[in-house]
Amino acid sequence: MKRIGVLSSGGDGPGFNPCIRAVVRTAISHGVSVMGIKYGFAGLINGEIDELDVRSVGGILGRGGTILGTARSEEFRTERGRLTAIRKLHEYGIEGLVIIGGDGSFRGALQLWREFNFPVVGVPGTIDNDINGTDMSIGVDTALNTVLNAIDKIRDTASSHQRAFLIEVMGRECGYLALMSGIAGGAEMILLPEVETSPEEVASALKNAYLRGKAHCIIIVAEGYKPGLEAVASYLTERREELGFEVRTTVLGHVQRGGSPTAFERLLATRLGVAAVEALLSGQSGVMVGLVGNKVVLTPLEEVVAQPKKIDLSLYQMAKMLEK
Ligand code: F6P
Repeated sequence: MKRIGVLSSGGDGPGFNPCIRAVVRTAISHGVSVMGIKYGFAGLINGEIDELDVRSVGGILGRGGTILGTARSEEFRTERGRLTAIRKLHEYGIEGLVIIGGDGSFRGALQLWREFNFPVVGVPGTIDNDINGTDMSIGVDTALNTVLNAIDKIRDTASSHQRAFLIEVMGRECGYLALMSGIAGGAEMILLPEVETSPEEVASALKNAYLRGKAHCIIIVAEGYKPGLEAVASYLTERREELGFEVRTTVLGHVQRGGSPTAFERLLATRLGVAAVEALLSGQSGVMVGLVGNKVVLTPLEEVVAQPKKIDLSLYQMAKMLEK
């Protein structure tokens, strides 16, 4: 292989840049040039492609976002879109592709590999941590620290005013970020998509916390939790007198996707970026690099996308035990 391409796809996360840097510098160390593809598969189809040299990825280790930009491409889902994409890859002399992204991006990668036998290696990048084949995806650790920082700050004001706060955390259908931030932040309750919890149960936990003399009640709500933050908040607000606490809500939103990557993140992103290029150059394809038990491993993309990753429910039980 003489030239590879790199793109980021789907929702971004802190750590994408150190990964891109590692991909570029590893490939160049092996005598392989690298083309940076802007805005994911959409940019590939549109030919938004430029060479990246060692200097072009200088100073980005600590920068949030992705210098390549990212997108979710509807066109790539069509056969015509993929045909255009493969033509562009040939046109630019790209012989293999590193794709940093999540589940949807890997389905696209798998199609490139299956339909055109085009070499692809995936790197897990999403703050949701919902990807099989890796303990942690790029973006998760920094997002978790961002959430934790917010919880600590909200607790300060919650205590001063004797309030209950519902804090909504991202994660799509996966409760990982909510569960881990809830444990690390000492939340009084965690509401997950994976565990059914009714507004009545939330009300009862709130009342108990008040009766036990707590000065605040922090409830972490995963965005995929049903019936959702708003429904629970109105249920609690309607019963304010009976419950003791006044209720406020905070939706953390996209702040969780930005910021300078943590040390763990930069190391993870660097290790996975290096491993992705080495895998590609050694003839591996249709695989994702991941971190399992602090070792870099390869998992077939078919296995990765076969089902969503499950959270460890024993950690939820642990959190319940500690909610005192
Ligand atoms: O998948 C990452 C993620 O941030 C999810 O947690 C969230 O549901 C979604 O992306 C938000 O997407 P968008 O940036 O398109 O609003």
